[in-house]
Amino acid sequence: MTATIIDGKAFAAKVREQVAEHVARLKDENGLTPGLAVVLVGEDPASQVYVRSKGKQTVEVGMNSYEHKLPADTSEADLLALIDQLNKDQSVHGILVQLPLPGHLNSDLVINSIDPAKDVDGFHISNVGLLGTGQKSMVPCTPLGCLMMLRDHHGSLSGMNAVVVGRSNIVGKPMAQLLLGDSCTVTIAHSRTKDLAAVCRSADILVAAVGRPEMIPGDWVKPGATVIDVGINRIERDGKNKLVGDVEFASAAEVAGAITPVPGGVGPMTIACLLANTLTACCRANGLSEPKGLTA
Ligand code: GUN
Repeated sequence: MTATIIDGKAFAAKVREQVAEHVARLKDENGLTPGLAVVLVGEDPASQVYVRSKGKQTVEVGMNSYEHKLPADTSEADLLALIDQLNKDQSVHGILVQLPLPGHLNSDLVINSIDPAKDVDGFHISNVGLLGTGQKSMVPCTPLGCLMMLRDHHGSLSGMNAVVVGRSNIVGKPMAQLLLGDSCTVTIAHSRTKDLAAVCRSADILVAAVGRPEMIPGDWVKPGATVIDVGINRIERDGKNKLVGDVEFASAAEVAGAITPVPGGVGPMTIACLLANTLTACCRANGLSEPKGLTA
């Protein structure tokens, strides 16, 4: 193996430490405690795990965590009423509605009912538009975590060829905007892209966010490239349950200059960035300067 392993677990711990320091200072100097409200509708097991983990880490950095667990048959009106109440609550600086929502609820409508200043997921159309026009916004957590790791590894990303494989609203599209903001030349590739292998081989920075286990083999990676693997896929191999990324790690690590592992790469950065966004939202809401190094 030749690639440097980008340790997202250690990086995320550092981000949480920085957030905790800022939170302690906010309490001492301003009498403020950032608060994050997480709304979970229904009983999706994976979502329950995420929500528990978010709540635990929120408290660990000294912030207030408010969990709202609603039954799967909650009406849209009741969910919108809860969001309205959280929008008005001064002690709540961040609101996250866990996705996916049950089918009878309109996710776009629900997300766009969140106060954009409290939208720590960065999914509200106002935040999407602000990011796309290079204005101050709330930035989606997973792409923000990827950007932090890339900046840490490279310093400047200016002029680099970046290929983002995947065009989701949660990762692919905002990732492309952030890379463009850092002056990369950006290509968004997807399942219909012609000669995806050749497109990937042109990348100095390759971000894989397609959700297909080990879809990208090592011979699609340009020698020396930095590979950011956003995929978290559960597969059966040799009778065992395994987590793998969208990139074939072993072969890619032979070629890449640097690579994020799965697990322990991008994954842990997402919640760390959620905490960073909640802190940022609290600072902005109170007219205070933003934490450095924790925003786009
Ligand atoms: N479900 C899976 N990922 C996410 C995320 O980043 N935010 C929310 N709200 N739900 C999710």
